[in-house]
Amino acid sequence: AGGISDPGLITLVNKLQDVFTTVGVQNPIDLPQIVVVGSQSSGKSSVLENIVGRDFLPRGTGIVTRRPLVLQLINRAPAAKTNGLKDEVNTDSDKEANVDEWGEFLHIPGQKFYDFNKIRDEIVKETEAKTGRNAGISPAPINLRIYSPNVLTLTLVDLPGLTKVPVGDQPRDIERQIREMVLKQISKPNAIILAVTGANTDLANSDGLKLAREVDPEGQRTIGVLTKVDLMDEGTDVVDILAGRIIPLRLGYVPVVNRGQRDIDNRKPITAALDNEKNFFENHKAYRNKSSYCGTPYLARKLNLILMMHIKQTLPDIKARIQASLQKYSAELQSLGDSMLGNSANIVLNIITEFSNEWRTVLEGNNTELSSVEL
Ligand code: GDP
Ligand code: NA
Ligand code: MG
Repeated sequence: AGGISDPGLITLVNKLQDVFTTVGVQNPIDLPQIVVVGSQSSGKSSVLENIVGRDFLPRGTGIVTRRPLVLQLINRAPAAKTNGLKDEVNTDSDKEANVDEWGEFLHIPGQKFYDFNKIRDEIVKETEAKTGRNAGISPAPINLRIYSPNVLTLTLVDLPGLTKVPVGDQPRDIERQIREMVLKQISKPNAIILAVTGANTDLANSDGLKLAREVDPEGQRTIGVLTKVDLMDEGTDVVDILAGRIIPLRLGYVPVVNRGQRDIDNRKPITAALDNEKNFFENHKAYRNKSSYCGTPYLARKLNLILMMHIKQTLPDIKARIQASLQKYSAELQSLGDSMLGNSANIVLNIITEFSNEWRTVLEGNNTELSSVEL
């Protein structure tokens, strides 16, 4: 299935974390935040959910996402030895609740949600608590943490969509308020922007692309995501957009097919949705010869590559910090006497050596795939 839970990347980050914990440095790599931006109902929540590979976000027509959701994925080793876990977690049935994966809200400390449907219910409830039931919005974020052995420690942000005309209890200046809410998130230099546009609308009208361009004019951290490719008029396709002939984007566009409203109403599982997406691109005459560059798994792969690049770029700093810690550590040990020094310093050195040997090709360059994310 899709998802940003690339096992190689997870192992790499965990190893880095281990090495750093050993030498006493906290949070070595601050991975970028992934933020979605686009018009209301363009499919932002659907895209995020598919990337995470779990069902837990409220989705639907009209304004559903009415407060920012700051979703922190936290990698956490499984409690007990588990075999074949990877295959189970992306399935949708929470019937056999997986004790190694749960959600926790900042506003309900200590309560663990093992049932992802209950996570969605709580998001809805907490949204209504702040904004009422009548389409109101609030810039106060809902903070949700998901602990799992199968995720990268990473933050994703779901946002209300850009709209123009107030409805229900919305303020008169709704357009400006949402715009400010969105700008606040995507202005952060370490935000990776997923600019989401429905393929059944005109790209030149894309609110998401327009706002992304304001904060990232060079397009260095913006990925175009084209949703609803399945809803395009017969005889039209996104081939010209993908080829960069309409509005070129340095990191390119990825076309996806999410669940439609009927799929949501029928609670179609995420695995079935991803199968459906795969079949769509493989069998469509406009996409079948480039179907490996289409769909959620490709988007996830692209994000993985960007995260790898980020780690690679941070590496010189990471190395400097390791060296500094090591020096400090050795000095401390020296003051304790020679006998201990030999042993402990060696353990640390061994860990670091082992780590860098294992990841040399990935981290030190030579890896052509990583020298460019332009795919
Ligand atoms: P958001 O408001 O941007 O977060 O959009 P949602 O993810 O809530 O989706 C809005 C509506 O569009 C829902 O009814 C989804 O089922 C539908 N939708 C989103 N993406 C697609 C897609 O790729 N294909 C189809 N057919 N419907 C989609
Ligand atoms: Na919506
Ligand atoms: Mg939404």
